[in-house]
Amino acid sequence: MDVTSRVEELRRLVEHHTERYYLLDDPEISDAEFDALVVELRALEEAHPELRTADSPTQRVGGRASAAFAEVRHRLPMMSLDNAFSFDELVAWGKRMERYISGDVDYVCELKIDGIACSLLYEDGRYVRGATRGNGVVGEDVTENVRTISVVPERLAVDDAPAVLEVRGEVYMPASAFEELNQRQGEAGLRLFANPRNSGAGSLRQKDPKVTASRDLRFWAYQLGDVEGGPRFRRHSETLDFLKAAGLPVNPEVRTVGSLDDVFGYCQQWLEHRHDLEYEIDGVVVKVDDLGQRDELGSTSKSPRWAIAYKFPPEEATTVLKDIMVSIGRTGKATPFAQLEPVRVSGSTVQLATLHNEDQVRVKDVRPGDTVTVRKAGDVIPEVVAPVLSKRPEGLPEWRFPAACPVCNGPLVRIEGESDTFCVNVDCPAQRDGRIGHFASRGAMDIEGLGEKRVQQLTMAGLLADPGDIYYLTYEGLMGLEGFADISARNLLDAIEKSKSRPLPNLLIGLSIRHLGGRGAEVLAEAFGHLDRILEASEEEMAVTPGVGPVIAKSVCEFFALDRNRQVIDKLRAAGVNFEGVARSELPPTLAGKAVVVTGTLESMSRDRAVEAVKARGGASPGSVSKKTAYLVAGAEPGAAKVAKAEACGVPVIDEAAFLRLLETGEVE
Ligand code: IVH
Repeated sequence: MDVTSRVEELRRLVEHHTERYYLLDDPEISDAEFDALVVELRALEEAHPELRTADSPTQRVGGRASAAFAEVRHRLPMMSLDNAFSFDELVAWGKRMERYISGDVDYVCELKIDGIACSLLYEDGRYVRGATRGNGVVGEDVTENVRTISVVPERLAVDDAPAVLEVRGEVYMPASAFEELNQRQGEAGLRLFANPRNSGAGSLRQKDPKVTASRDLRFWAYQLGDVEGGPRFRRHSETLDFLKAAGLPVNPEVRTVGSLDDVFGYCQQWLEHRHDLEYEIDGVVVKVDDLGQRDELGSTSKSPRWAIAYKFPPEEATTVLKDIMVSIGRTGKATPFAQLEPVRVSGSTVQLATLHNEDQVRVKDVRPGDTVTVRKAGDVIPEVVAPVLSKRPEGLPEWRFPAACPVCNGPLVRIEGESDTFCVNVDCPAQRDGRIGHFASRGAMDIEGLGEKRVQQLTMAGLLADPGDIYYLTYEGLMGLEGFADISARNLLDAIEKSKSRPLPNLLIGLSIRHLGGRGAEVLAEAFGHLDRILEASEEEMAVTPGVGPVIAKSVCEFFALDRNRQVIDKLRAAGVNFEGVARSELPPTLAGKAVVVTGTLESMSRDRAVEAVKARGGASPGSVSKKTAYLVAGAEPGAAKVAKAEACGVPVIDEAAFLRLLETGEVE
């Protein structure tokens, strides 16, 4: 394709996707893919100035107003920001900045909220109009819809409010509200939103403000627009303080810093901790603080020179769903998963993604052959979010859950009233390998060197049929297998020997008893003190144990009633595996009734161990900070949201040394 045709094609594509994004709240490609089109178009226009046109999308501020709402002409254009897609580009912008400007530069670092830009107009302190950004010059009148957002004040809380105050900021939907909304949409058979941004935009741009009112929308103010009267500001940070004092929500993570190194640090921190927040961010906005310096720098036709958006690497992409398969877990649970055309997301190539269960596939209505949005957020497993319906080939059939197990060909059965489907053949090789692998895993008996692949090799060789057999592996047996040499065989046998003394909860977890998680295993071990007492206990006795309950009790009793499971227990007993529980009372209850939250990395112990240590002393260690928290322990690189919450709630934040004293004595000093 020649350059002229490619430029024309790119313009068409950018126009098309702008419309899908801004007008329909239903994008077909991810933000990153859209950005890439714009970057390519801009590069071609720069290399071939003769191809530039005034109506190219690169020359417009972006977005477009919908005919469904009355038009609002912004008092000052709502510009967009230039993007930096790497730290190098960000630093290059900063260096340019510092060459142009006389004097030192302070930067205000703000989170780039992934929502919908809005302008709120206050006249004499009273809210009179709300508008979306639209194309930056003309937006949509969403006054009544914005009025339903509870954090947006009707009146400014200042005595001498300016005659005119235009506040700019982002309307957004918290991640949890997005999930709840999608759940409701799914149950009602309505279209699912791909992400919180789209559900926020869709909720704000409703014809009926009552619908908007029923959705959990929020707002962060981050910029002044037009102002008449009121105080004079010299710095952006002062304007944010003023907005806060006036009762507008200003994001608490805003920081003013004096060097590019600190800007870099802020970006780095939020790149790592973006998922600690209750809302989505897609980058960091860096702004020159001094308003005089901003005037010196000015703007291009599209964006100010005094600010830049550092964009995080994308967490979403679109790709083709080649097929939906089913994997069988250790409990027999059949989990559908997507086989994808490989795609780069969050810095890695994704070709498999979970679809959770039959209902999820139905609710999302994804079908083999669809183009789908894939998301990989932080460390979590990749997920198929939704199909791009406008790209669905005609006549694409719905996917049906298979009737037979793909591994053993036995029947797949869906339990009534539950969303999961199971392979009910307990001899299914997939289940057997899963159970043995789980028994050996970190959170259970922690046998180093006995991972998934090794387990498969040993079961295939006929050396393992259940977890009990692990303790009867021999040096000779291992040496006869491919990949084993003297040292690796001895290491594995050593690791197996060591695992015999693991605490009782680890053993209970390792047995793969349905419904019995870590907490239940601990409670059982503590209450009964020995595996044999658990084996003897009646279902009723177990069910009345605090923290156990009828579901776990039934499942545990059913498990131990089966001969095959009893045989495993006999093998473990004969091998000398520890069945004894450690009674909690052996440790002083220094933290009885106290909640201690741990964040960041500790040097002396893992996070799990720290939580265990708190519990072993009678305390609790929940995952989040609240007013009831006694202490927040902050290790290296603590979660900023947790620290901020602790400070807001007046919860003392202590370091590792103080934590160790606390465990020992119940006091921090
Ligand atoms: S300032 C001229 N600050 O990012 C400066 N924008 O790509 C106007 N955004 O349209 C924007 N968080 O929708 C600014 N803290 C923040 C922001 C922010 C999110 C959005 C906004 C804007 C887009 C620019």
